[in-house]
Order: sequence, then C-alpha cells, then structure tokens
Amino acid sequence: MNVLVLGGGGREHALTWAIAKSSRIGKLYAAPGNGGTAGIACNVPLDAEDADAVIGFSRDHDIDLVVVGPEAPLVAGVAEKVRAAGIAVFGPDAQGAQLEGSKSFSKEFMMAHGLPTARYKKCTSEQEAMDYLHEVGAPIVVKADGLAAGKGVIVADCMEDAEEAVRDCFAGDFGAAGSVVVIEEMLEGPECSMLAFLAGGKALCMPCAQDHKRAYDGDRGPNTGGMGVYSPVPCVTPELEARMQEIMQQAAAATAQDFAVPYQGVLYGGFMLTPEGPKLLEFNARFGDPETQVIMPRMESDAIEVFSAVAAGRVDDIDLRWSDQCAVCVVLASEGYPGSYEKGKVILGIEEAEALEGVTVFHAGTTFNADDELVTNGGRVLNVVALADTFEQARERAYEACEKINFEGKQMRRDIALRALEG
Ligand code: AMP
Ligand code: GLY
Repeated sequence: MNVLVLGGGGREHALTWAIAKSSRIGKLYAAPGNGGTAGIACNVPLDAEDADAVIGFSRDHDIDLVVVGPEAPLVAGVAEKVRAAGIAVFGPDAQGAQLEGSKSFSKEFMMAHGLPTARYKKCTSEQEAMDYLHEVGAPIVVKADGLAAGKGVIVADCMEDAEEAVRDCFAGDFGAAGSVVVIEEMLEGPECSMLAFLAGGKALCMPCAQDHKRAYDGDRGPNTGGMGVYSPVPCVTPELEARMQEIMQQAAAATAQDFAVPYQGVLYGGFMLTPEGPKLLEFNARFGDPETQVIMPRMESDAIEVFSAVAAGRVDDIDLRWSDQCAVCVVLASEGYPGSYEKGKVILGIEEAEALEGVTVFHAGTTFNADDELVTNGGRVLNVVALADTFEQARERAYEACEKINFEGKQMRRDIALRALEG
C-alpha cells in the first residue's frame, strides 16, 4: 500500500516509522515531513491544510491511505474532503474534530452524554465571564474556545490572574479562538492520557501515557507542547484503567449518535485522576505529541493494518497487541523554547545514540541545511525514546542517549518518568 502521512513533527516521524515497518508498505510519503522522515519516506512540500492539493497528490501517486497527524487539517475538513474523493483516510471529519477545535462544543458533548468532566460555563462576552468569575471565585481555569496551539488554557490560582486571562482572551490574544471563553472548575490529581482508535461508534483503547507539559524540572516554568512522556503509567491501577476505557467507549458510542458520520481516527482523552475518579480535561482529535513517540514503539501490531481498518470504519477485527516494556521519551529542545529560539544549529551524535540498546530517536524539528548537514528547525528538536524491561533501565538508556547527542543550546528536563519509579 502507498501511504501519505500529513504533518512534520515528532508524532509524524513516529507514525511514519511505524508504517515503514509494515509488511504491507509500498511507497511512503510525508508532507512536509522533517529531517527524520527523510530517511524512511519521501518528503513532499504539500500544504497539509489544502484538501485539493492532498487529493491531487494522492491521485498522481496512487495513494491508498492518508494518515492525518495534526489537528489543523482535521478541523479544516481535509479528512472528509479526501474521503469524499474516494481515498481512505485515517482521521475524523470536521464535525468530529470539533471535539478538539471547540472547547465549548466538547464540553456540551461531554455533558449531554454524561461523561465525567469539570463543571463549566461558556461565556460569549467579557462581562458575562467576569460575572461568572465573581460568582464562583478562584482557583479557576479559563480556556479560549478554539485552537490556540496549546496556549489557550490558563489555570488561575487567584482572582487577579483569572481576570487577566479573561481580558486577554477577549482582547484577542488568542485570535478568534478567544472570542468565546470556557470557565471551568479546577480539578486536582495526576494527569494521564488515554488514546483510543475509534470507528463505527466503538473504541479500541491504547495503553496510558503521561506527558510532562511544563518546561522545567519539578513541573515548574511555562507550559510547552510536552517535554517528555512515558508509558505505561504505574499509578493507573487496573480498576482506573478499566474506568477510563469505559469512558472512552461511552464517548465512541456518543459520536455515533451525534455525528452525521461516526468518528473515525484517534480520540485522545486527557484525564485528571481525581479523588472522585477519572474526569475528562479535554479531547483531542488526533494522536498526542509526544505520547505517540512512546505508544508506537510499544505497538506490536502492523500499523498499516490497524490504520486501514479504522479508515474503513472498523475496529472490531483489529488484533491490537502491545509490548510489556516500559517506554521513556525525553525531548531535546532549543535554548529559549517555549519562548523564541534560534534555528539552524548543527546536530551531531544521533547514530551513536541509536546504537544503544532499545533507543530510537524521533525528529521533531529538524531539517537539512545547504551543506546537507542535519540542523535544528524548531523548538522541540528531537525525541529520544528508550524501551526497556523496567523504568529505571529505560530512563538510564534514554538519558545516556541524550548525552551522546549535541547541538548548541540543547535543553532537556532531567526528571522525565521519575514519577513512574514511585509507582
Ligand atoms: P487542555 O488543553 O484542556 O488539556 O489544558 C491544558 C492543561 O491545562 C492540562 O493538561 C491541565 O494541566 C490544565 N487544565 C486544563 N483544564 C483543567 C482543569 N479543569 N483543572 C485543572 N487543570 C486543568
Ligand atoms: N501531548 C499533548 C497533546 O498532544 O496535545
């Protein structure tokens, strides 16, 4: 089968890597891809949000399956347009993608179907938002409704911060994403992600993963796209996992009731494990980044078989198998990230890192310069993943691999998966 992967981050390198290992792969393309996908697929300069361009390319290159990585093309309706052109697509229609694209849509969906989540109010004016803030008080969470590249959520400990967040949203700090604001109750507990393959109103759940969103050790500093992740998550007991699976199953059934076409693709459930049980913080309409970088290495099933079945609307006959090994992913970032940073720094040592047992390096923001040297091209540069029988070993290998890689300004957290050791 000829496959086209849309996107160019670490998630897409991990997806491309899993697809490249399939016994059924023919030609493999990544659009736009990155320095890592270049080694295992053909990178093509396509605009992933331009459905006509994706359809044209797919017809010209006999593409059998399009796998959509990021949320923006999904929210823009690329998956349904490509599907309507008769090409199999892994990824939901625009309506399904609203579960990520609009926080108020997502909350209404959760409420309507009795899915556990924080209490909230949707506000369409600054006055309405301020009045509600004063009614419920701090701590409180303020969320811009639309896509804001992970920056539209403010967890406010005090009233001043909450008011400032509301003012920023309505002043347009998050563009159109902030013209509607969701204000919700603050939940406490460890966070955990559960991703599931969805099709035909059914969910096939993947193992849990835990992201590290803050920039610095000890969960301090600004929020980022994710500085590291591990899977499985030892603090998730079998009972908790079963409850999360039940919630994902309920969500899948709800998509078949509510949507014109049942959701097909990945649904990402972001959970807070509260004392009253797991509650949904959010849905994403795609694989997580960097969660995918630990989930794909643990998946033993053939990726093309799994993705094609989902694209064909079935999850029942998927033979989903997982390795028992522990996976740890450490993100190597550019100096200054998540603020401004420089690009174009030469990267050395990836081969040495990958020579270590169980280590794979996924590229997140890399490219080649005019001299054909691999250089940094983003805030998150590389995802160093290690698989081992224990979290101690996996951490040790991942950090040993990180030391072998060098580029000017290399930044990383030193405490990724430390929590997993505590169980
Ligand atoms: P979201 O984009 O909705 O996942 O929010 C980003 C981050 O904000 C989450 O990963 C949580 O750490 C935090 N967050 C979101 N909603 C809440 C909430 N209701 N209570 C506490 N923290 C939250
Ligand atoms: N790792 C969080 C996300 O993909 O949204």
